[in-house]
Amino acid sequence: MRKIFIIVLSAFTVLIAKADGLKCAKWMYAEPGKEYMHKLVAEEGATVEGVDFGGVASLTLKDDRMVVGHRYKYVHGTAPQSEGEYTYTVKVRMADGMLAEDTVKLTVSNSLQSPTPMMGWLTWNWFAREISHDKIYGITEGLVNKGLVDAGYNTVVLDDAWATNQCQKENLTYDSRKFPRGISGFVEALHGLDSRIRVGIYSDAGVMTCENYQPGSYGFEREHIALFDSWGIDMLKYDFCNSETTAFESYKPMGEAVAELNAQRKKDGRRPFVLNICEWGSNEPWTWAADAGGSSWRSTSDARECWLGSKGLPGVLAGADCNRDLWMWAGVNRYNDLDMMVIGLHGLGGPSNYTEGHYSNGGVIEGLTHQQAQSQMSLWCMMGSPLSLTCDLRSVPRGEANKNTGVMPVQLVTDNDIAILTNPRIIAIDQDALGQQAEYMEMLSTSGERFAESGIDVYVKDLTGGRKAVSVTNRGDVAVYGPVFNLSDLYLSPKKKYMCTEVWNGKKTTIKKELKVQHLVPFETKVFLIE
Ligand code: GLA
Repeated sequence: MRKIFIIVLSAFTVLIAKADGLKCAKWMYAEPGKEYMHKLVAEEGATVEGVDFGGVASLTLKDDRMVVGHRYKYVHGTAPQSEGEYTYTVKVRMADGMLAEDTVKLTVSNSLQSPTPMMGWLTWNWFAREISHDKIYGITEGLVNKGLVDAGYNTVVLDDAWATNQCQKENLTYDSRKFPRGISGFVEALHGLDSRIRVGIYSDAGVMTCENYQPGSYGFEREHIALFDSWGIDMLKYDFCNSETTAFESYKPMGEAVAELNAQRKKDGRRPFVLNICEWGSNEPWTWAADAGGSSWRSTSDARECWLGSKGLPGVLAGADCNRDLWMWAGVNRYNDLDMMVIGLHGLGGPSNYTEGHYSNGGVIEGLTHQQAQSQMSLWCMMGSPLSLTCDLRSVPRGEANKNTGVMPVQLVTDNDIAILTNPRIIAIDQDALGQQAEYMEMLSTSGERFAESGIDVYVKDLTGGRKAVSVTNRGDVAVYGPVFNLSDLYLSPKKKYMCTEVWNGKKTTIKKELKVQHLVPFETKVFLIE
């Protein structure tokens, strides 16, 4: 009888331990002693009952969001002061009344891959295959001279087609016509321009990369990572074409190779190597890509140079729409990646202009208007996306990838583009150390469905020190008078006075009880920093 009881009890325990009541990140990261936030979202019909913090005494469970907004509890406090692996256990009352337990892993480290979202420049949407040492050197000069490196855009990434189409996985090498000094010579040249520059490279978790031009790295992860490391590379964008197995199995070995390299780099006092997973959101990478070793992952298809677009060809709005309900999967060192921003392409880019009816545009697509460009920067920063540029920053831009190969207008990337991309207030929202993704406030928005052509979208982002950023986007082409929000609906106190800064024009006002948005011109996003 006693034996039967023990068997029944242990079967019951296993059932509890396995129950998966949380639908949010379960592997979290923090830097020692930093402010920490983890939003605990339980599955439909379930509620978070409590958290057993074990040895992590500096964290507490908060429930002040149970009456407004998305109604969830969250963990808040200060991360442990010492590096190490910690856990806490979340108790979830499931819809059927059973109690489930979920263990959250918390890695506290001074050498996280990407404590804040990566900022940089990628070759793909301007050059496609047509890359070379000289061209990307010219781009990097532009990054330095236009103040973009000062603003934080420090990672220059060689996307697809840097290798020859003749090599195999076992003898992967660069195309010496494009890179006559090799990749290490290229890296050295870029470091010579500015010691803050880091260089990233591209490969694929399958047989061949997406251009079907050069081999992927699946099965040769350690060899390829060692090769990239020997060239002085610090980051890998890892794509998902021509894969041979499931997404997780395809990515995991590269994550392990990067983790091994990073253990060695830490011993040697070198900065960590960064792994960006480019799986386009098809297999919900936000649920597994951290376990596969990445610190950011694409959550959408390839971004297009248009305002709305669709799920498969996402413009500014459709990209944000695809990403908007994924906020509970983001955090420090785990970011949903909205893909390259198309600001500065002005309708003359390469692959990002392959939209229906415009395979290669030759200038047919006009590109984003000023308001649309500002909205893209606003939404990418609210969502804590990596910020990757792809516009031609050379002193004499050319249009190699879009068949319109003549010399471009010298002012292709305008002073206005640079002002948008370097606005320190909006960048600070992207780079906020709390690492949160803004919540889409469905209840305060009027756009209704995803991919709508009109309406207002409202996002609220938690920042360090209890500060908030609030963005309001006018999706449509007609000016609208923006709403007045009760501060309590924005997770703020209705009783306190706050300083409110309009991020795009720097205007400061004191607000109490409510936030008045006032008029929004077509496609405009206003962003408010409330502290
Ligand atoms: C995929 C990726 C793009 C780019 C290309 C290169 O489409 O999503 O960002 O890297 O491959 O072939």
